[in-house]
Amino acid sequence: MKLTILGGGGFRVPLVYGALLTDRAEGRVTEVVLHDLDDSRLYAVTRVLEEQASAVADAPRVTATTDLDEALRGADFVFSAIRVGGLEGRANDERVALAEGVLGQETVGAGGIAYGLRTVPVAVDIAQRVARLAPDAWVINFTNPAGLVTEAMSRHLGDRVIGICDSPVGLGRRIARVLGADPNEAWIDYAGLNHLGWVRGLRIAGRDELPRLLADPGLLGSFEEGKLFGTDWLRSLGAIPNEYLHYYYFSREAVRAYQQAEQTRGAFLRDQQARFYEEARRADVSALDAWDRTRAEREATYMAEARETAGAGERDADDLSGGYEKVALALMRAIARDERTTLILNVRNQGTLSVLDPDAVIEVPCLVDANGAHPVAVDPLPGHAAGLVCAVKAVEREVLAAAESGSRATAVKAFALHPLVDSVNVARRLVEGYTQVHPGLAYLG
Ligand code: G6P
Ligand code: MN
Repeated sequence: MKLTILGGGGFRVPLVYGALLTDRAEGRVTEVVLHDLDDSRLYAVTRVLEEQASAVADAPRVTATTDLDEALRGADFVFSAIRVGGLEGRANDERVALAEGVLGQETVGAGGIAYGLRTVPVAVDIAQRVARLAPDAWVINFTNPAGLVTEAMSRHLGDRVIGICDSPVGLGRRIARVLGADPNEAWIDYAGLNHLGWVRGLRIAGRDELPRLLADPGLLGSFEEGKLFGTDWLRSLGAIPNEYLHYYYFSREAVRAYQQAEQTRGAFLRDQQARFYEEARRADVSALDAWDRTRAEREATYMAEARETAGAGERDADDLSGGYEKVALALMRAIARDERTTLILNVRNQGTLSVLDPDAVIEVPCLVDANGAHPVAVDPLPGHAAGLVCAVKAVEREVLAAAESGSRATAVKAFALHPLVDSVNVARRLVEGYTQVHPGLAYLG
């Protein structure tokens, strides 16, 4: 079984490889091909993987290449985890937006639109190549903004592309834990778009336990989302939002915290990762140790501004272990070995959410087996959620249209329609600012 990882020199690749190393079953991945545009990043990550594999018998073989077509040929699975424009691009997404007083977060608001505008053309090119060179491969998309990018790729790959995110899984796990339930036994009623979803129920043995959580302020305030959103707001909503909804519900505070921070998240990670890649190339350093240290620091500081704004304190130790790689492996196993399971994934709507058309990519629980991922029927979204979901999907559609046509006016429309951008003039200046700093937006004539 051959797995190709696009963005193979990326920092999270060792997480995926570590998960593969735990898989001893028949039909597991035996060959990993790393593809990246940057040779030196491939070299550093390959060193980490070598150390990870050193004590493991029959570890998947790893090769690295900068030739995309070669990487794709013969792949059974393609993981796409690229970052167009790198972390410098992410820092610029934040900076340009903050200068206009709006949010420049990686996936939410103006930052997410800018990131989407430069990523979609690259993702579409990849999808077209996969369709040509590896038409039977399954593409698992981690590339952010994951819902939008998955939708762009699905126009060429249909249901063979599936988007994943660790945040709904983490949320479900935390809720199950505070309720004293086994997360694997719980049915999580989650629906929305990527980074824009809500848990509306959590069934254990057929009984919805969420009302018990909502009724108990002590329990409700004891985990990440309770601290982030505050118990009163969660009770008003009657649901537990994905942590990324913090940027919508507390937008003003989020922008202020970002403006006051010594460094934005993107700038912090840009510098942190530059140090890591430097270190991991040195012959006298354990690349794996350097990676581990860097990862621990990255996880501990995740969403730090949001938690600070809310007075949420440190992250729970249990929340630091991630989950991104576990979702990826579970999905791949379910497809490759027909191990039927349920996972929250980004797939085409096909009528699941009545407020959206069939081709809209949404994030919902899916039944996965050798035939792929099939969304499970869920209750309709409540009005407040449907409103946001429709508004953001409309923005995504403008981003896709701008990427296809190269129209600057359409790009302006995408920014202007976003609920977190408060003026058409701001949208115009954002397009100006972003096209100046991002070479990847040169196509917007
Ligand atoms: C979560 C999200 C990812 C996102 C990441 C950012 O895992 O689900 O989509 O890329 O956080 O984390 P970072 O450490 O890069 O700020
Ligand atoms: Mn995500």
